[in-house]
Amino acid sequence: MLDHAARIALIPGDGAGPEVMAEAVPLLDWARARGRRLEVERLPYGADHYLATGETLPEAAYAALRDGCDAILFGAVGDPRVPDGRHAEEILLRLRQGLELMVNFRPCRPLPGLQREGLWLEVYRENTEGAYCLQGSTEPGRAVDLAVHTEPAVRRLLEAAFARARARSCPLTLAHKANVLKHGHGLWVRVFQELCAAHPGVTARGMHADALLCALVQDPSPFGVIAADNYLGDLISDLTAAFAGGMGTAPSLSWAPHRPFRCAVLAEPVHGSAPDIAGKGLANPVGMILSTALLFRHLGWESEALAVEAAVAAAMASGARTRDLGGSLSTSDMGTAIRGHLPG
Ligand code: NAI
Ligand code: MG
Repeated sequence: MLDHAARIALIPGDGAGPEVMAEAVPLLDWARARGRRLEVERLPYGADHYLATGETLPEAAYAALRDGCDAILFGAVGDPRVPDGRHAEEILLRLRQGLELMVNFRPCRPLPGLQREGLWLEVYRENTEGAYCLQGSTEPGRAVDLAVHTEPAVRRLLEAAFARARARSCPLTLAHKANVLKHGHGLWVRVFQELCAAHPGVTARGMHADALLCALVQDPSPFGVIAADNYLGDLISDLTAAFAGGMGTAPSLSWAPHRPFRCAVLAEPVHGSAPDIAGKGLANPVGMILSTALLFRHLGWESEALAVEAAVAAAMASGARTRDLGGSLSTSDMGTAIRGHLPG
């Protein structure tokens, strides 16, 4: 728990990002009204700002976030007007990598009324390196993307995954392809085996990621925590999102376990800016709202986290649905329905 008012930066971003963020902001006001101390700062970074000014995330703004904020609540970035995605890279990847937010936690718990209710999967995805380290080259007829894995990041991610599996008394599975990615995933397997020896109480095993995907689609119920590198974790967590209603419902939280900077946590839905539905009030705000609950929990505001999660479950149980889940509520109507179940 912080000994000062939590300073939370909001970056709504692009497309559906600002629409779902608009349904998270009232939760901050609600937490404040319940006595939680927080200050909010809204930042304009995204495609509109980039196209108008040429700025993605200015260095001074990045430093102010890093040293002057405690947490970031993020919508999504990505815009068809910026086909190379430069601003998204320089905003979101810069924050994940610069702030060393290597643990990306993506829970999958189907909500009331959805298929597979009772399933409880959690993906721990390394969030700063691997194939997303942005190193490579393109030459005529040849293109190279490097995947860089470092032991400190791998170890921190796996330690978080082991701690979670132990706390939940559930199995832990490492997804890897060390049979072909001998160097990078060889490092993952070596550190994993070391931690298996140090945590004899955790039922842990490695699986080739392709076989894991097949097993997950056939029956996800035997799995508990799944750890993976950046690329595999990205893929696996979109699959697990599908088990819980799809992209619109999946939350995530990224943090730096070693707390190298004041700002050591970022909450964001798993989905992107959804340009196909953006601006139409069709985006499901549940992923964003559940991400806000994860942030509350990380800040030590457990009663608010539980209340938000219970409000989402109650709204779903009462039949409130956006179009992606077969209903007809707009983004803001869904947010209102959820807030209607919050205690005062
Ligand atoms: P996406 O997650 O934006 O959309 C995939 C599909 O899910 C689309 O059919 C979309 O309509 C649907 N969807 C997404 N969010 C939804 C919501 N809240 N409610 C209901 N349906 C929802 O992924 P896509 O299409 O691959 O990427 C679109 C843009 O977003 C690209 O520019 C991409 O780079 C960016 N992106 C950004 C991310 C981030 O900011 N963290 C993550 C993933 C993609
Ligand atoms: Mg993804």
